[in-house]
Amino acid sequence: MSRKVILDVDTGSDDACAVMLAYLHKDIDLVAVCTVKGNQPLPYTTENTLRIRELLHADFPVYKGCSGSLVKNVVYPRIPPTANADAYDEEGNKIHIHQELFDLPASVRKEEDMNAVNFYIDYLMNAKEKVTIVPVGPLTNLAVALVIEPRIVENIEEIVIMGGGWNITNATLAAEFNIYDDPEAAQRVLHCGARITMVPLDATHTAYISQDDANELRKIGTPASLFAADLIDLRIKVHDYAQPLEVEHTCALHDPLCIAYLIDPQVLQDVKFCNVEVSLGGLTEGQTCVDQRAIQENRNVHFAFRGDHERFAKIFIDAFR
Ligand code: RIB
Ligand code: CA
Repeated sequence: MSRKVILDVDTGSDDACAVMLAYLHKDIDLVAVCTVKGNQPLPYTTENTLRIRELLHADFPVYKGCSGSLVKNVVYPRIPPTANADAYDEEGNKIHIHQELFDLPASVRKEEDMNAVNFYIDYLMNAKEKVTIVPVGPLTNLAVALVIEPRIVENIEEIVIMGGGWNITNATLAAEFNIYDDPEAAQRVLHCGARITMVPLDATHTAYISQDDANELRKIGTPASLFAADLIDLRIKVHDYAQPLEVEHTCALHDPLCIAYLIDPQVLQDVKFCNVEVSLGGLTEGQTCVDQRAIQENRNVHFAFRGDHERFAKIFIDAFR
């Protein structure tokens, strides 16, 4: 039986791959996609999501969500994150890991009239069966929905978050981008009481995607597989330049790893149930502090310390066949 999923994205190259995997895989019933600012401002993350929907000839609804974080940048600007810093190819051309707008036709069908926050409340308060929520951008939409209507948690099966990092960070010396972008929202979601699985950089960097994987996708030859292969090529260039992984000429494809976990939980390895708290200020702002002591209270998160590259690549590529 397929699992009902709401995706929350800041599309973004790896978000686009998550939308494609969720839509294409038979084990996932993609109920809706919500958008949030993050990799780009909200109008771009929304339009990119709509362009991907049209590339797939899909009909899931898209709900536009929050354009800013709960607290961040309201009072004073903080450390600029480096996760989305520009890189340069061998010829010195600037390359960005997330294009402002994808090089795809402009969308014809637009997003729904309802805001993503209202959608969460309306859908979850009326749901006849539980749904899994997969936020792969900053957690603002879900946090606001939880503040307005905390009872929505009763109809959440699980929240699978791409975010955080223990040994690896990318936004600052202490923080991963999605959590750093809205730490207060993340902290609220981590304490909402639902089952939470966190897919941090430690998992996404070890479940890397390689140039061979991109070549396999290209051989499939559909518009979606070709587009995914192009995004991976771009990401490999940026990772080689700015965030090299253990294995050369590979990239982290963060967001679809959350979807792959719903299809086969064993793509995540070394998963520990522990207390995770978000640092809300100072030098460590946005850090996911993971308690690994044998005796601890308030365990709230299943935190994955590794990912399985081969399992992930197979699930991802097979979905496009
Ligand atoms: O740190 C990686 C995360 O930040 C991914 O979700 C990527 O899309 C960006 O949002
Ligand atoms: Ca993302």
